[in-house]
Amino acid sequence: MTHHLLETALEAAHRAGEILMARLWGELDVTQKGYRDVVTAADTAAESAILSLIRERFPTHAILAEESGAIDGDAPTVWVVDPLDGTTNYARGHPTFSVSVAVLERGVTLAGVVHDPVRGHTFAACRGAGATLNGRAIAASPADRLADAIVALDWGHADADRQRALHHLNRLAGECRTIRTLGSAALALAYVGAGWLDVYFALGIKPWDAAAASLIVTEAGGTVTTLEGEPWSIEDAAILATNGRLHPAIC
Ligand code: IPD
Ligand code: CA
Ligand code: CA
Repeated sequence: MTHHLLETALEAAHRAGEILMARLWGELDVTQKGYRDVVTAADTAAESAILSLIRERFPTHAILAEESGAIDGDAPTVWVVDPLDGTTNYARGHPTFSVSVAVLERGVTLAGVVHDPVRGHTFAACRGAGATLNGRAIAASPADRLADAIVALDWGHADADRQRALHHLNRLAGECRTIRTLGSAALALAYVGAGWLDVYFALGIKPWDAAAASLIVTEAGGTVTTLEGEPWSIEDAAILATNGRLHPAIC
């Protein structure tokens, strides 16, 4: 069954990716939807395509999607969807963004896909079956010294979150190799799974930002917790993901 769910997640993410690519660098209908937060017509078009496929294949499942909110179903299975993670980049023509599709059962993520249509990178994971990039197994990095670590972050939209992020950054910046920020939380987490980043932390994230990618990190051998090192759930707005070895050095 999980395999069947993953197949639909992969297909949905690819359909959304095609829509995003077709509109990238074209006329974008950009609307302010919140404080430091924009949405484009591409976000909603990509989300519609994903939701249509899920509804067609699994009409009883529930959905939580960024632009549509919660759509209830009878089953304990919930699809958590971010049709465009990195809208701020996308709206400026900056080609770093992703599509994120996760499937949860009673709060436990069973399968997750993070798809970057620009680079043709599709990260995927099924619980207990490892994580892949374009079908090949991936693993978190072997780095065990903070001095060698590439640390990435996202600091959300709210002023208070940014102050907290600066507090953590202030310590880490002096101790790590370097700092990166991509502008797509899902992609940055997937990069921890791929071993391209060693540490990622974010504040002010939403369930759809990390639902799929958190499974990719753990299935790749990494660790995901809150910033305090407690177990992380998709309701938590702060997240720390590392290759596992570096986790004790961060929290
Ligand atoms: C955003 C991205 C960004 C993160 C923000 C998110 P969106 O998602 O993941 O990297 O810093 O907190 O809201 O709005 O582009 O889907
Ligand atoms: Ca997002
Ligand atoms: Ca989004």
